[in-house]
Amino acid sequence: MLNIVVLISGTGSNLRALLEASADAEFPARVVAVGADREADGLAHAEEFGIPTFTVPFSSFASREEWGVALLEQIRVWNPDLVVLSGFMRLLPRTVVDALAPHLINTHPAYLPEFPGAHGVRDALAAGVDETGASIIVVDNGVDQGPVIVQERVPVLPGDTEQELHDRIKPVERRLLVQTVLDIANGLDLASL
Ligand code: GAR
Repeated sequence: MLNIVVLISGTGSNLRALLEASADAEFPARVVAVGADREADGLAHAEEFGIPTFTVPFSSFASREEWGVALLEQIRVWNPDLVVLSGFMRLLPRTVVDALAPHLINTHPAYLPEFPGAHGVRDALAAGVDETGASIIVVDNGVDQGPVIVQERVPVLPGDTEQELHDRIKPVERRLLVQTVLDIANGLDLASL
């Protein structure tokens, strides 16, 4: 059984997809805890599934490094095999990435290396492209630059708003995330990517 800690900042729809998948006794992974850097709405999904949560508010610490130490301490309580950044909108300090890599993955709403960063959907729309995508990557110390595990194209339609395009990307992200977790549980070696 692959034990996962998921970190979120927002609504947690990708988290919910993982919680639903792992509610199936046949699924070889389970979410053991969900953490957040703020009072994220998505923590309610964890509570609904009876999964413990923790919050390490970024704003309560004097520096990113001190926040990272506290976050890593909370993550380590659960001794996870994998940490999933699922709409986690803070850059982790190098010490945290180095402590968890390569068992640290991120979902991103664009076809990396296109449109990295916090506004992948908005940036794709601004660039006027007719397709973007969804990616699952291994996190390294760059911003959305780690090895791609899996990615898929998603069309941009004429007149799309940021919300409409993001709503088209998210179901793809959810499917890719659940498949990736399954692949890792079945032996995919993240260090080899
Ligand atoms: C997802 O689209 C995720 O890829 C994105 O935030 C959204 C969170 O949605 N993450 C990033 O943009 C990270 N750079 P959710 O809270 O509903 O799962």
